[in-house]
Amino acid sequence: MNIVLCGFMGCGKTTVGKIIAKRLDGDFIDTDSLIEKEEGKKIADIFAESGEEYFRECEHKACAKLAKGDKAIIATGGGAMTFERNAKLFADGAVIIFIDADYSTIMRRIGKDAGRPLLKGDSKALFDKRRPFYIANSHKKITVCGDVSAEQVADLIIKYYIKEDKTK
Ligand code: S3P
Repeated sequence: MNIVLCGFMGCGKTTVGKIIAKRLDGDFIDTDSLIEKEEGKKIADIFAESGEEYFRECEHKACAKLAKGDKAIIATGGGAMTFERNAKLFADGAVIIFIDADYSTIMRRIGKDAGRPLLKGDSKALFDKRRPFYIANSHKKITVCGDVSAEQVADLIIKYYIKEDKTK
């Protein structure tokens, strides 16, 4: 069974995912890195040269590939799990965790980041629009605000995973 992390850009998927992978001795993979490897380009360049629709196709293929694996900790790009077609790929073979960080925490962490093409100006509307999809497409929501550390978030996820993993 895989662990799939979803949530808005900057919610901590990568940081938390790496901690979980270390503690469970599993592989950490993120969809964006896989896309960059397959396409031989940075995410920002894929958006600039081929557009968001093309990027979403690459993302769907990356999710399909990763869903076939087992016991991996998978961090999805901020948009991935807002698409039901991606959520469906992971629904049975993974626990899907929504890291629900509040908007001000996220902005404090990442602010404006040139490597994140969708983070231009005020992203609050996008944040609000996506949140219900993360909730609908995940099995568990971990709330993160203020001083909650990545280690604490990782602990909660590991506990949930151990409880849910019926394959052991
Ligand atoms: C995106 C988030 C990014 C990356 C791409 C699109 C989004 O990933 O997949 O820029 O739609 O929110 P992170 O959430 O890792 O920043």
